[in-house]
Amino acid sequence: MKVHDLRTPALLVDVHAFDANVVTMARRWPGTSLRPHVKAFKSTALARRLAEAGHTAFCCATVKEVAGMAAAGLGEDLLLANECLDLSPLTPIVQADRARITVAVDSAETVEAAARAGIRDVLVDVDVGLPRCGCDPADAGRLADLARSRGLEVRGVMGYEGHLMREPGATKAELVERSMALLLEAHAEVGGDVVSGGGTGTWDVNRWVTELQAGSYCLMDTEYVAHAPEFRNALFALGTVISRSAKGWAVLDTGLKCFAMDHGNPTVVDAGDCWFVSDEHLTFGVAEGTDVRVGDRVRVLPAHVDPTVSQHERLHVVDGDEVVEVWEVDLRHW
Ligand SMILES: Cc1ncc(COP(=O)(O)O)c(C=O)c1O
Repeated sequence: MKVHDLRTPALLVDVHAFDANVVTMARRWPGTSLRPHVKAFKSTALARRLAEAGHTAFCCATVKEVAGMAAAGLGEDLLLANECLDLSPLTPIVQADRARITVAVDSAETVEAAARAGIRDVLVDVDVGLPRCGCDPADAGRLADLARSRGLEVRGVMGYEGHLMREPGATKAELVERSMALLLEAHAEVGGDVVSGGGTGTWDVNRWVTELQAGSYCLMDTEYVAHAPEFRNALFALGTVISRSAKGWAVLDTGLKCFAMDHGNPTVVDAGDCWFVSDEHLTFGVAEGTDVRVGDRVRVLPAHVDPTVSQHERLHVVDGDEVVEVWEVDLRHW
């Protein structure tokens, strides 16, 4: 199939940019020193490509992602890197030994939820500066003891320094070091082999974790690329020009139901500048000297990859004008 034959809007993955991103990351974080975060792409087909590249341990953000990865035979070492109080869908998977599942805990309630669901392994999630999940580092040892008293294996700690991913270059390394000092302090109390953290924005400065949790690097988006410029934009939306005004603008069928807009407007490739996006439409000012007609196909780069992908059912993997594979976005929803 040719790209031109696709119904629009459609999501495209440039296979060369994707492969280059995988190679770049694997050079610094080979094998299981990288624990790719499935939340960024929600596709077992894409995850399988990473497993083939040696990354056989994964992070997930939802129970559905964990269960879907296990069902796809990608359950060698799955970390639910998020707090969850109802883990019951995972019970049969653990009981049948179909996957190794570790869950993050940051409270007595989440420890209890893990024990109740028959989960065997946990990581203590530590607050390393991002006001989100994670216990106080001073509480980590107590939580680990509690988990062990409930029969859980404590594999170590995790701490996500999400507040530093977009820190300007000059100060990022120093702030990540300070943030990771909190994680190491907690690790000293908790024990275990695993110190998990980091992301695409800190892939080159975080020297303290035993495994990096990056996910966005595979596909990237326009907002993130400034903070990790070694990775390339591999994800595009393909739209069709459905209307053209003599006053200088054109309209694509890629509206905001096609893009996450929380990181700003998408970027129109080579045809003009995005003016605004409404439910079913993207209006762009046609660049001078550009011949844009009704029916033309135009590529658009999203500003935030994770919630853009989760609005689509499939990713079309393209090599130039050829669609070479289709990856279902099978881990959507909860
Ligand atoms: C717990 C956790 N770890 C790691 C990441 C890293 O993701 P990214 O590759 O987008 O920086 C995220 C992203 O939100 C996250 O929530």
